[in-house]
Amino acid sequence: MAHLNGIEREKFVNKTFTDIASRYVFMNHLMTGGMDILLRKETIRIANLKMGERVLDLGTGTGDLAREARIKNNGLFLIASDFTLAMMTATRDWNMIQRTSADALTLPFEEDTFNVVMSGYLVRNVSSLEKALAEQFRVLRPGGRVVILDMTRPRHNLLTPIINFYLKSIVPLLGRIFNRNRDAYTYLIQSTQNFVTAENMVLAMEKTGFQNIRFRIRMFGTMAIHDGIKPQE
Ligand SMILES: C[S@@+](CC[C@H](N)C(=O)[O-])C[C@H]1O[C@@H](n2cnc3c(N)ncnc32)[C@H](O)[C@@H]1O
Repeated sequence: MAHLNGIEREKFVNKTFTDIASRYVFMNHLMTGGMDILLRKETIRIANLKMGERVLDLGTGTGDLAREARIKNNGLFLIASDFTLAMMTATRDWNMIQRTSADALTLPFEEDTFNVVMSGYLVRNVSSLEKALAEQFRVLRPGGRVVILDMTRPRHNLLTPIINFYLKSIVPLLGRIFNRNRDAYTYLIQSTQNFVTAENMVLAMEKTGFQNIRFRIRMFGTMAIHDGIKPQE
C-alpha cells in the first residue's frame, strides 16, 4: 500500500483509482463535507489564470480542477492528464479541455511549455515526489507558476485525536459502505500520514528550483495549497 515504492506503487495507485473511479467525486464531497469544492476554487484563485495561458492539470482524475479553471477563465489552453483512464472516463464534461494519458514522472511535453502547472490531490500518490516536481519544473516556462493542492500531515494540536479518529476509522468505513472498498480509503489516509509536512514540501520545491514558495493550511490542518514560480533565466 502506501509503503510500496517505484513501479509497484504506481501499479497499486493506478488500480486503486481504477477501482474507485465511478464514485470518486461523490466520495470526495462526502468525506470533506463539500470542502473539496471550495479548496479547488481557492487553488484556481491562487493560480491567477490569465487569458490565453497554457495550463496543465496534472493527475486530473475526473477533471474537477480543470473544469474549475475553465469556469474561471474560458480563454485558456487547458490540458488535463492522468495515468488512470477510468478516472478520466468517469465523467463526460471535457468541453474545451484536452485530455491526455501521461505519467506525472515522465511527462510527454517539451520543456518550457506551460504558464501554469497545477494539481489536486496528486503529489502524495506519486512514487517519487522529487521526480514529479522536477517534471513540473521542466515543462513550465520561465516565470511560470506551480500550484499544488493536497492533503498534508496534520500538526499536533487539541483536535488531533478527533482528526485521527476521523481519518483512520470514519473515512475507511465510509469507503466500505459507499464504495465497497475499505482498502482504497485506508490507503488514501496512509498516504497522507506518510507524506511530507507542508514545511518539508517547501524544502522539496526549493530543491527543485522553485522560488517565491508559499503555502496555506486548510481543513483543520489536513490540507495544504502550495504555490511557487520557476525563476526567469
Ligand atoms: C486523488 S485523485 C485527484 C483527482 C483530481 N485532481 C481531483 O482534484 O480530484 C489522484 C489522481 O492522480 C492520478 N495519479 C497518481 N499518480 C499518478 C502518476 N504518477 N501519473 C499520473 N497520474 C497519477 C491518479 O490516477 C488519480 O486520478
